[in-house]
Order: sequence, then C-alpha cells, then structure tokens
Amino acid sequence: MKSKASSFECQACGAKFSRWTGKCDECGAWNSLQESSSSAIPAGLTAGEGGKKIPFSDLAGSEKEYTRIETGLKELDRTLGGGLVPGGVVLVAGDPGIGKSTILLQAAAQISRSGNVFYLTGEESTAQIKMRASRLGLSGAKVKLAAACGIRDIAATLSAEKDVAAVVIDSIQTMFMDTIDSAPGTITQVRTSAHEMIRLAKQKGFALFLIGHVTKEGAIAGPRVLEHMVDTVLYFEGERAHQFRILRAVKNRYGATDEIGVFEMTEKGLREVENPSALFLAERRGNVSGSAVFAGIEGTRPVLLEIQALVSAGTGGGARRSVVGYDHARLSMITAVLDARCFQEFGSFDIFLNITGGLKVGEPACDLAVAAALLSAKNAQPAPADMVFFGEIGLSGEVRAVPLMEARIKEAAKLGFKRVMLPKSGKLSGADFGIKIIQIGHVQDLVAMFRK
Ligand code: TYD
Ligand code: MG
Repeated sequence: MKSKASSFECQACGAKFSRWTGKCDECGAWNSLQESSSSAIPAGLTAGEGGKKIPFSDLAGSEKEYTRIETGLKELDRTLGGGLVPGGVVLVAGDPGIGKSTILLQAAAQISRSGNVFYLTGEESTAQIKMRASRLGLSGAKVKLAAACGIRDIAATLSAEKDVAAVVIDSIQTMFMDTIDSAPGTITQVRTSAHEMIRLAKQKGFALFLIGHVTKEGAIAGPRVLEHMVDTVLYFEGERAHQFRILRAVKNRYGATDEIGVFEMTEKGLREVENPSALFLAERRGNVSGSAVFAGIEGTRPVLLEIQALVSAGTGGGARRSVVGYDHARLSMITAVLDARCFQEFGSFDIFLNITGGLKVGEPACDLAVAAALLSAKNAQPAPADMVFFGEIGLSGEVRAVPLMEARIKEAAKLGFKRVMLPKSGKLSGADFGIKIIQIGHVQDLVAMFRK
C-alpha cells in the first residue's frame, strides 16, 4: 500500500519540499523545515467535483463608502488612512517589547467608548493586562478582556456577540486551531488561526487587529506569511533605547503606504508626537562639525532629521564603514562621487554615519545632506547651523530635483531655519517662504562651502 504523501514546509518562508533538509533551499534558513500533512485532492476525484457554481456580476454599480471608525489616536488613524474600516484586518508587527500591546490597549480603550471591543490575550494573563491598563489610566474603559488562545472558542464566542466593533488578538503566534497537529507559532497554525479570524471579521464586519512578533528567522513563523492575507500591515519600529516609536504602513488596501505615525514611549504609555521634526532635532547641538539637517518626506509629511558623520584617518588595513539608518551602498556612491568629481578623497578614511532618533532613511533626496555631513566632518568645519539640505546626487556630481520640494522648504521655515540648500533643476512656484533658498546644480558648489 502506498503511504500518504507528506511534505515539509519551511516555517520562515513557506516553501514546500518533499524531503526534509537542514537548510531551506528557498530562503536559506537553517532548521526551519517541519512536516505538514498534504491536502492534495484524493485520487480519482477531479477538482470540480462537488463544487458549487459561483455567481458573477459586472463591474457597474458601486459599493457603499465605508464609514471609518476613529481609534482616537490621531497618529494611528493617519497610518490607517483615516481610521479603521469595518471588516478591515490590520496586522501590527514589530519586535517583542516595542509597545504593540500598549498601543493596541490604548486604541481599544478609545474605540470602546463608541462600540464593543474585545481584547484576547494569549501571551499575558488578564492580571498583567489589567496592571498595564491601570498604569495607562484606562481601568475605567469598557474593553472586554479575556485570556484565550483557542481559535475555536474565540470564534464561537465572537459569533454569538452582536455589534462587535473591533477585536484585538495579542498575539497571532500564540493562537492555535485544535484540528491541526502542529504547535502554536508554526506557520500552519499561524496561517490557519489568522485565516479563521479574518473570515469572521469579514463576515461580521468588525475591525480586526492581529499582533505579530517579528522574531529570528525560522524559530517562529513570522508576520511575513500573513502580509498577503490582511488588508493593512503596520510595522512598529524604533530602538528600545530611544523613546521614539514609528508606526509605518507598509501595505494598505484602504490608504497610502509609507505613511508614518510618530509616538513617544512615556511612563503613561505611547504619546502622539505632533511635531516630529522638533523632537528629532531636540538634541542637536549647533556648530559641531559632521552634522547636517535633512528635510525628508515620510509618507505624505515632511520631517527634519539630523545626519551625523564621523570621518577619521584609517588605522591601516582597509577603511571601516559603519552606517546606522542609511543605505551602505548609497554612502559608497556619495563618497565615490565626491572623490571622482570634486577631489575629496574618502577612500582611506574610516566613516561612521548615523541618522539620529533611530529613523531609517531610504530617500535619494538625502544624498546632499549626507554629503554635507561628510564634508563637514572631514574638513572639521561645521555646516551652517541654520541651514537645511535636500537633493539627490547623480554619478557625474549633478544635484537632481526631488519630489515635494516646497513641502520640505515650508517645514524648514516652520522650524526656524534660515537657509535651505536644494537642487537648481527643481521647479519652485516663486512664493516667499520666509527662508533663503540656495539652489545648486553640482556638488562642487557644496564642496566650495567647506573650503577654508
Ligand atoms: P509592550 O506593549 O508590552 O510591547 P510588545 O507588546 O510589543 O511586546 O511594551 C513593553 C515595553 O513598553 C516595556 O519595556 C515597558 C514599556 N512601557 C512603558 O515604557 N510605558 C508604559 O506605560 C507601558 C505600558 C510600557
Ligand atoms: Mg505584547
């Protein structure tokens, strides 16, 4: 008799294999393969047998506009695209201890003022959550709290409830479906549990928050495998040593992606930051070399950040490059351009580059500010303390236009800066922003500023 075909599934990336191996050929993770039962169609049955006919409609006609539920946390609403959508599923992913439970308890408390909210914890005891609530001053909120991790019980309970506004599952990695053999946290459990909860959310029309820990590859199925199943993916980021927390929308069926919300972790929970630029620049010291302020765009809003560089003579045997919050390859390109086009040699120097506040910058518009910080550090000459920079640098040293120039200029003016250096090629309306605009066409013009 032929034995039942079994297959092995990588817990990190979901790739399937017929044999067990120590390393996943697909994503390279070690020890991540686990046996999963195959769900192929039994022999002798065609795929269509026993299926029901699906009705089709045409494209005309409109679905009614959904009314959004505000979470009461403006920065959270902003990243969601203007509030929660009934039936919408939001995955909140981030490192353990970053503040996911805290922010969702705060949001749940706010939503409970106008609707029924259920908070299901599989990770902490109800006593722990109550302690957190009292610390946050939310003990009086009408959130319905339970410690549970069986999806069958949770689904049965929620199905029987009327008027559910929102449900929080903390965390999806602790949930399990008893029809499946594998342990909670494995890819099959995480996927099945999420699938059941999502189906219920769509059917009953409540907003669903799934908390997902990002953990070291392989050990526990990561939120990655859920990204395509949910409507919105929010990453909660930040350095634990810093008090800033950034909530970033990386996928959103109901709004813009790359939108960010900025929070500050205090003893009384997460506080919204209305003016992120002021916060990010709070610890800046004027008149030190190796520092330049960049006017960036995060999502739809301008944010000013400080770029810090340290350039020191190498100790021989290969120059060191250490970069925090910025792209390594981009830094190499900028130093190569400064070297080849402006005779500013960086090759033998150690370079340390840091974006303060724990933020990550991926915009090419940051090039000019990085170049300014590097040149300032190397020449031991401070960049003007009242100046802001933005512009992309091309390989021939030209400074190229970037999007949303006026929004950046306005933010710099608002924060009290007096000068802004930007690309010549960009179109400006000619309006007066109350700040001196210095347009340059080539990095050479920036280098000239640092020549003694
Ligand atoms: P938590 O929400 O438990 O993180 P996660 O659910 O992402 O694992 O946050 C835990 C951290 O937040 C913990 O180190 C303590 C800190 N914290 C505060 O600083 N202030 C507060 O008011 C709360 C509730 C937590
Ligand atoms: Mg938690």
